[in-house]
Parts: sequence; C-alpha cells; structure tokens
Amino acid sequence: MIDKIKERIAEAEAFDAQTKEEIEAFRIKYLGKKGLLNVYFAEFKNVPNDQKKAFGQIINKLKNTAEEKVNTLKEELDSKADVKGIYGDLSRPGEPIAIGARHPISLVKNQIIDIFSRIGFNVSEGPEIEDDWHNFTALNLPEYHPARDMQDTFFIQTDPDILLRTHTSSVQVRYMENNTPPIRTISPGRVFRNEAISSRSHCFFHQVEGLYVDKDVSFADLKQTLQYFTTEMFGKSKIRLRPSYFPFTEPSAEVDVYWGLETEIDHRITKGTGWLEIMGCGMVDPHVLENCGIDSKVYSGFAFGMGIDRIAMLLHQIGDIRLLSENDVRFLEQFKSSL
Ligand code: DAH
Repeated sequence: MIDKIKERIAEAEAFDAQTKEEIEAFRIKYLGKKGLLNVYFAEFKNVPNDQKKAFGQIINKLKNTAEEKVNTLKEELDSKADVKGIYGDLSRPGEPIAIGARHPISLVKNQIIDIFSRIGFNVSEGPEIEDDWHNFTALNLPEYHPARDMQDTFFIQTDPDILLRTHTSSVQVRYMENNTPPIRTISPGRVFRNEAISSRSHCFFHQVEGLYVDKDVSFADLKQTLQYFTTEMFGKSKIRLRPSYFPFTEPSAEVDVYWGLETEIDHRITKGTGWLEIMGCGMVDPHVLENCGIDSKVYSGFAFGMGIDRIAMLLHQIGDIRLLSENDVRFLEQFKSSL
C-alpha cells in the first residue's frame, strides 16, 4: 500500500496542466470528497498499529504534494493570462508581415504629379464614365467629325451619349467649366478604347492630361514646361516639337525627347533614331475655351497629354503592357525597392 501511495506522490509531482479545467480535475482526483486521499484515509483503520505512523506520514506527504501542485499550477496559469492579455504569448516567434509594393503605374503617376506640383500644378480628376459633350463635342469633335474614328469608343449600353472616356482631355473640359483662370492642373486617370489586346496595346490604359490657362500664355511657355518635365523625369533636356493635329489644340505638336543612342536598348526603343515620342500637346483651341465658358479674347492656354503605361514600360523595361493589369505577384514584387 505504501508503495502505491509513493507512486501516486510521484505522479502528482510530475503532473502539469495548461487549463483551469485540468487543474480542477486533478484537485478532485486527489483532494475531492471521493478523492484518493480520502480513500487512503479510510484505509488507515485497517493498517497494523506498527505501520500506522509511516502510513500517516506518507498520506500527509501525498496531501501536501497535491495541494502544493494545485496552488502553483493556478498561480502559473494566472500570470500567463496576464501577459497574454497585454502582449500575447511573448515566447512565440514574430509573424512575418507581407510587405506590398507600389504598382509601376502608381510609381510613374506619382513621379509626374510630384514634378508638376513643384511648378504650381494641382491634381484634378473626372469620371471614367463620361458623356459625349465632355469627351468629344466640347473638345471640337462634333458628331460625324472624322477624328472621332481615331479613338474607338466603348459606349454604355445603347445610349450613344454615355461612354467610357477615351482620353483624360475630358477632365480639361470639366475643370475649365468649374474653375476660372489662372488654371494649372494635371489630371491623371484611366482611359478606355476598343482595341485588340496585345503586348503593345490594351483596351484600357492610363494618361495624364495637363492644362495651363491664363493671360498671355504662349507656345514658348509650353515648350519650357515640357523641357522642365523631361529633364526632371528622364534626365533628358533635348526635346523637339513636331507639327501634328489634335482637334482641341491649335497649333498642335507631338513631343519627342532625345533619348540618345548609347546602348543597345536605346537603339531598340528609338528604332535607331535616338528620338522617342512621349506626348501630344498644343495651344488650347479658342473654340474649346469658349465651349467651357472662358473668354478666349482675354485668356489663352496650352494642354498636353501623355500615356503613363508607355512611360512605365520605358523606365522599368517592361516588354508587355498586359503585365500591368494581370496582378501577377511575381511581376509586382520586382518593384519593392522603388519608392
Ligand atoms: N487626348 C490626346 C490623346 O488621347 C492626347 C492629347 C494631345 C492631349 C494633345 C492634349 C493635347 O491635351 O493638347 O491622344
């Protein structure tokens, strides 16, 4: 019997518990009314007199061991709960935090905003679902104007008046309608065209529109502004303006930046010429100013528009425009080091 109790003492000493319930079960098993201790106490009267002393001592030891165990386990559990309440389990290793990366379109867009905001341009936005007036008519593109065919338009359902904007020039119109000169604003945003998707073109992409309207704004101001931009953006200050046509500007020009022919990549992206076309621009047609409620006898202005996707592809050497909208984490992760 004594050996059995010794075994129980060893068991009680080795016992460990994580929850209140386990501790309570242990207490009931040893110290409860029908617990082991009472069972052994009941045996006491049957023990021969000469062994009573030793038996009594061993039962007492069991009692103390069990009581002590219950107390220390309870204390441990309480102090753990305190720590958990504030900090969680301090012994756990830290959770890895997945760090995201800015999308290359956002990187380039933010860079452009930053450059123009340094010379006083604010940022404006307009709706992606536009009406005919803001996307076309106010910009000198009345119905049946052949230049409308330059931009294959997505219309909303069957209403020919509601469409997905084909360019951010629509924001110029909205901005001029709602503000008085001096106006200096850039309008980044997504635009849509019904084009076959390939590595070089997509049915949606991103543009930034620029607009400057004030008294005595000249073509020289336009050129200065663009030269400042290419210098800041690409580190290239040599530009040329090629005469072109846009219905909303007169005169109009296409802007090329001299990229150089130093590397093999320069040769490839400039098709061996050293020049790279980066945007369209011009002096805002007086008729457009009038359409938007601005007196063209008092004010003049310039405007420009460029594609963000193309610039992002150029700067980050992205060979396929589709990568920009596929959300492939392996692609996006490569921009982690960029700001
Ligand atoms: N809206 C033109 C396009 O999508 C780009 C553009 C050209 C905007 C000349 C302008 C501009 O403001 O003056 O191709």
